[in-house]
Amino acid sequence: MVNKKEERWQLAQLKEDSFWRRDNVLDSQMERVLSRYASVISEISQSLTPDSKILDIGCGPTCVGQLFVGGSKTYLDPLMDSYLKTHSERLPDGKKICSTAESIPEQDESFDVVLCVNALDHMIDPAAALQEIRRVMKKDGMFILGIFLHPAPIAIARRFIEKRMPFFREDAHPHSYALNHMRKLLSEFFSIHREIKVFRKNTALVPSLHREDWMFICKKQDSEA
Ligand SMILES: C[S@@+](CC[C@H](N)C(=O)[O-])C[C@H]1O[C@@H](n2cnc3c(N)ncnc32)[C@H](O)[C@@H]1O
Repeated sequence: MVNKKEERWQLAQLKEDSFWRRDNVLDSQMERVLSRYASVISEISQSLTPDSKILDIGCGPTCVGQLFVGGSKTYLDPLMDSYLKTHSERLPDGKKICSTAESIPEQDESFDVVLCVNALDHMIDPAAALQEIRRVMKKDGMFILGIFLHPAPIAIARRFIEKRMPFFREDAHPHSYALNHMRKLLSEFFSIHREIKVFRKNTALVPSLHREDWMFICKKQDSEA
């Protein structure tokens, strides 16, 4: 039986699927990916070996994980079957899995790097997804999260609207976070090693309402542990 959370998520996924079917959307989204994440990923690539195993969760058709130089790549997305039809010629080589992050069909401790860009706030249950990500990471593995964050009052207002005023909610994003929310959630599962602000959307009128795109580099445990 589909519960309320899943029903809400399925609606978000319908929006998501139609978004990625628009003309030229992949080109414009690749520009976002390259301008915001390429330099951090290229820096991290230097610490990887050719046999490093990389998992890109909620990869979309942009498959940000393809920016890693070397390594063997696995791409997971619940809309993978749709992307394989609409963007087949643009998807990179690598294993493709059609599944959610809440239930990753991979063995414990099998990945050196897990990447999740602009997808956690789209999921059914982000905490369950983080738990699964932790499970599939090797002991000394790395988790790289890319996420849009809102100023705290905006994130709180969005959560209230999501719960109490669904008519006004933003259908594609069931979850909204501010920087303090994200630090708290991540700290339940990982130790945060670096935080990088990769983009700030300028709204000339009200600077305090800027939405920002952040990257968090996390480890499964403290390096001294
Ligand atoms: C905005 S797109 C981001 C795609 C890509 N990572 C990027 O940055 O261009 C969000 C992706 O998250 C995926 N997604 C939604 N719910 C998910 C879940 N429960 N587990 C894994 N991925 C999910 C969607 O299908 C969609 O492809």
